[in-house]
Amino acid sequence: MVAPLLPLSVRDAEVWRGPTRILGPVSLDLGETGITIVLGPNGGGKTTLLRTLHGLERMRRGSLKWSCSREEALKRQAFVFQQPVIMRRSVVESIAYPLLLDRVPKRDALARAAEIAGNVGLAKHLELPAQVLSGGEKQKMALARALIRRPDLLFLDEPCASLDGESTHEIEEILQRAKADGTRIVMSTHSVGQARRMADQILFIHQGQILEAGPADAFLAGPQTLEARAHINGDLLS
Ligand SMILES: Nc1ncnc2c1ncn2[C@@H]1O[C@H](COP(=O)(O)OP(=O)(O)OP(=O)(O)O)[C@@H](O)[C@H]1O
Ligand SMILES: [Mg+2]
Repeated sequence: MVAPLLPLSVRDAEVWRGPTRILGPVSLDLGETGITIVLGPNGGGKTTLLRTLHGLERMRRGSLKWSCSREEALKRQAFVFQQPVIMRRSVVESIAYPLLLDRVPKRDALARAAEIAGNVGLAKHLELPAQVLSGGEKQKMALARALIRRPDLLFLDEPCASLDGESTHEIEEILQRAKADGTRIVMSTHSVGQARRMADQILFIHQGQILEAGPADAFLAGPQTLEARAHINGDLLS
């Protein structure tokens, strides 16, 4: 059996841009199951936190400790960016790409990509150039590409930010299925509605600090900080 990568333990992590500390110090523990929603207003540090956890940001201070080696942990996680990366390839080839990098034979990779494209509702678009897909379809393609290696841990940075209600619903369904299949999900959003629908745990982040962390039900029923209360009320009003 492979060693699990979670729990992850982060202690006093800080990310700076020149003279400005844009994240931290943050400490958190990421447990083995469920969906963690990173919630907070624009500029709060959600993207920076996710990128830090995924090893894309250099920490000036602090530590990040996986339950297996860092190298092994990075192999077993994937990241869906807010603006999906679009390749000059067909939809099915774009989805298959991570398997091709793993030297999976092309026929097998394309067959698996076609299957997963079907799961995300892209079965009819397999041979289209990826660039011509709509925004929502591109996001579903990016999700399929992230899921194709069956990551143990999936980060998503506001994957539904530019999507309509229907596409958002579809993406949320795909993520619930991935969760049921055992994928650990960490996703950012500023939408309280999405947090209500999806979250098992919430990390509320504001001005680069995690102000609240814990089970979603308790947080949503009674946030402890003024900032979280304001965010929840503001989101419901707007
Ligand atoms: N080079 C920089 N110098 C100073 N501040 C910076 C720099 N780069 C980023 N920041 C600040 O870092 C903060 C965190 O940004 P981040 O993108 O992580 O927030 P976010 O919660 O993802 O916001 P959004 O909801 O808008 O996506 C922001 O306030 C941003 O202005
Ligand atoms: Mg962001």
